[in-house]
Parts: sequence; C-alpha cells; structure tokens
Amino acid sequence: KRVGILISGRGSNMRSLIAAAAVPGFPAEIELVISNVGNAEGLGFAAKADIPTIVIPHKAYETREAFDRALDTALNNAGIDIVCLAGFMRILSDWFVQRWEGRLLNIHPSLLPLFKGTHVHEQVLLSGMRVSGCTVHYVVPELDAGPIIAQAAVPVAIDDTPETLAARVLVEEHRLYPAALKLLAEERVWLENGRAVFARS
Ligand code: GRF
Repeated sequence: KRVGILISGRGSNMRSLIAAAAVPGFPAEIELVISNVGNAEGLGFAAKADIPTIVIPHKAYETREAFDRALDTALNNAGIDIVCLAGFMRILSDWFVQRWEGRLLNIHPSLLPLFKGTHVHEQVLLSGMRVSGCTVHYVVPELDAGPIIAQAAVPVAIDDTPETLAARVLVEEHRLYPAALKLLAEERVWLENGRAVFARS
C-alpha cells in the first residue's frame, strides 16, 4: 500500500511511520509527505529519507475546498492509497473526508472520545483524570470523532505539566501509529457502516 503523510510541523509521528515502513516486510511504503506549512520541521527529515515532499500552502487558496482539491490531486498523482494525518493542523472538508473514507487516519493525543480539539493535555490535567493516552482513528467529517482503530494509555503523574504529559503520550504515539497503519494496510481493520471492524485471528 502507498501511503501519503500530511504534516504541519515537527513531524515526529511522520518520522516514526517512515522508520516503521523502512523495516523489510512492513505492508506499506511512505511515498509522499505533504505540508501546508513551508518551513515545517518534518520536511527536512522526509527529504533526507528520500521521500518526495510537497508544500501546499493553504493561504494560496481562496477556499477550503480549493485547498483540499489541491491535496487530493497531489495524492492521486502519487498513486496514494492511504493518507495519515500527523500533526496536520487544517480541518479537512467533508468532500475530502468522504473521498478518502476508510483510507484516512489521524492520531490524537488523548483517549478519545475524551478531550477532542486543541490544548488536549491542559484539558486532561484540568479534568483531574489519572490516565491519558493516544488514539488512532478513521477520520470522519466531525472533528476527532471517527471510529477508533487503536489506543494506548499512560499514567498522569501528580506533578505533570502539559509538557511532561505530552512527552509521555508522544512515546506511545510513536509506537501506536505504525501499528495501526499496519492493521489497515494488511486489511485487518476496515470501515463498515461507520464502524471499525477487525479481522479475527
Ligand atoms: C501529536 O501529539 C499528535 O498526536 C497531534 O499533534 C502532535 C504532532 O506532533 N495530532 P508531531 O508533528 O508528529 O511531532
């Protein structure tokens, strides 16, 4: 399976996907990295790993739909089968999400359906919860609401700051995202009637 990754920044999840896909036998190849931000830190790493990179600056497009059409065209031109959002900070239109339905994944740094949106670790600390974690899910039009493919949990420490909690969750993100992509690429999970269905065995 040919995978495209969309980023806006640091790209550490992108790096974990690239590293996993480089291992012989992994069922997917990272064929393209697209950023909507020209100076995203992740772009340099992708280029060094010999992965084609494209910058599609959202500001150059008058509407969300026009930007999303440009994304869609770039992905199709590269023959992409699966799209992984990895710190991609743009909301995608329903049109795009529907076109890529069942083939579009996101990683979110909380145990969804809790703590959607931004400032996630602040939300968790304010809630008083003693565990947090991360979620890989199918993307649906509603933000951070898609069917869940995989989750990992971490403890919340009594002296955590948003930064220390984020760092603990990120370690799990880097393990979880490649595992979830593997499931999808091997067709051991699929989307059926709005639910994630898993192969037995
Ligand atoms: C990660 O915490 C991810 O869960 C969230 O944004 C952050 C991106 O980090 N969606 P990176 O760019 O992958 O390093």
